[in-house]
Amino acid sequence: MFLSRQLARRVYSRSHRRWAHSPVAALSGLNTVTEEDLAHFSKILPSSAILSTLTPSATPPAELEPFNNDWMNKYHGRSTTVLKPRTTQEVSEIVKWCNQRRIGIVPQGGNTGLVGGSVPVRDELILSLANMSKIRSFDDVSGILVADAGCILQSLSDFLVSHHHIVPLDLGAKGSCQIGGNVSTNAGGLRLLRYGSLHGTVLGLEVVLPDGTILDQLTSLRKDNTGYDLKQLFIGAEGTLGVVTGVSILAAPAPQASNNVMLALPKFENVLPLFKETKRQLSEILSAFEFMDRTVYDLAVKHGQGRALDPADVEGADCFVLVETSGGKREHDEEKLNSLLESLMEADEPLINTGVLATSPAQFSALWAIREGLTEAVSKEGKAYKYDISVPLHKFKEVVDRTKEQLRQKGLLHDDAVKHVVGYGHVGDGNLHLNVVAAAYTPEIEAALEPFVYELVASYKGSISAEHGIGVMKTHALQYSKSPTSIEWMKKIKALFDPNGIMNPGKVLP
Ligand code: FAD
Ligand code: MLT
Ligand code: ZN
Repeated sequence: MFLSRQLARRVYSRSHRRWAHSPVAALSGLNTVTEEDLAHFSKILPSSAILSTLTPSATPPAELEPFNNDWMNKYHGRSTTVLKPRTTQEVSEIVKWCNQRRIGIVPQGGNTGLVGGSVPVRDELILSLANMSKIRSFDDVSGILVADAGCILQSLSDFLVSHHHIVPLDLGAKGSCQIGGNVSTNAGGLRLLRYGSLHGTVLGLEVVLPDGTILDQLTSLRKDNTGYDLKQLFIGAEGTLGVVTGVSILAAPAPQASNNVMLALPKFENVLPLFKETKRQLSEILSAFEFMDRTVYDLAVKHGQGRALDPADVEGADCFVLVETSGGKREHDEEKLNSLLESLMEADEPLINTGVLATSPAQFSALWAIREGLTEAVSKEGKAYKYDISVPLHKFKEVVDRTKEQLRQKGLLHDDAVKHVVGYGHVGDGNLHLNVVAAAYTPEIEAALEPFVYELVASYKGSISAEHGIGVMKTHALQYSKSPTSIEWMKKIKALFDPNGIMNPGKVLP
């Protein structure tokens, strides 16, 4: 609650620019859900699909808490009502009614988003896709999977195993996040280096538009050049243009062999030469190149993520890189990986101290568990200010160091305020996760970090959001990565699709 209030009132003043940031203002003109609305919804949905604190036979407020609070417990809504439709038709009828009544809607998937986009700013209706979890079809010749938006990413992966395919997307939140949420955030994750972004792998979408119209673009075609590619607008729209109800996605053939190795580096400066050499030697079998600094590795170990490496393997390490290969022939891939490791270790000035190679599926998973567990480790350690940025690769360390210095100068770098400033992320994609781990969310820390971090990113011509999106967290900072003309056209598109502003109000656009 505290943070929403604080965000709503924040006013930045800079020499050349001044603006007010008020997500709540974006909700003016919208109505809240009433008992009359509930009576209408009960004609569309069974009572088990309606959670509301409004009626006499009300849902206990505690049952709505998981829907009103985000994964980090940083953003808090006050919605009275959660609806859980099972079909696209039901979504359409709900949205149509909300549009006529001017009720704000927050589409919600697995609620694992990290920018406050999946919870209400105030008391908007929450439309949960959790009950839409059917796989509609899979073609094992083309690899095209068509699924309801509410399918959990892990369940899609599990389904594809017996069909010898994989989802071209993987992330630490796979056990909870939904494919519709992934599409709506244009999630990047751990496989982007190999399979590219969802803008390429999503072939079609079914979307309920803000007036309730069902836009069926659920094509299963690899090639389709018939005019504007409307589906692209919904990929990364964070629920502001419509509700994604179905997704057609190109699954990739499952690799015949996968290996991974955790490399310990004596200094950050070695990361880029290492990336270059790894790409050169592994070429087509390289499938991930993930970076973590020493501090965040230590946090993962402290909070029980994966299995700690041997003390001898981490001694003198400044940072780590997890390299994964995915290929067609085990012996061939192992030979390539081993010769890479040998050449790295035997160089006159070795780029790495050690390399811990997984030799069993259990070790393979344990190494990945360290990397995938960083988000959880950070949030167990304290309250995380998460900045998800694209900057030139050689600036990764500078960003972390300058942020630390900024906090030190402000007298905030100590255990009662900011405990750690850490960096990790998808080096192969130029995406750094800068995390400031604090004892509590406070206005002082936020003021020290913003607009400092955004200005720093802009000075490198980077992006303030490489993959997590804008949500409610960065609406005021959009201008650091988008020109006034781009923002103006984004607003025009929003107004065209959603003239009443009911879809995820207060999110994405300033
Ligand atoms: P939610 O959190 O429920 O929603 C996210 C946004 O999408 C909201 O704005 C919501 O309104 C909208 N939305 C959700 N479903 C729909 C729908 N059906 N139609 C329209 N709008 C919808 N992100 C990455 O990019 N890469 C990572 O590697 C990564 N790792 C993560 C690891 C952890 C442990 C966690 C907690 C998060 C991680 N994330 C990562 C954040 C990421 O954005 C989400 O995990 C995921 O993509 C969101 O899916 P979700 O179903 O939870 O969506
Ligand atoms: C990751 O790469 O681990 C995710 O994007 C989540 C995070 O930034 O913590
Ligand atoms: Zn990430």
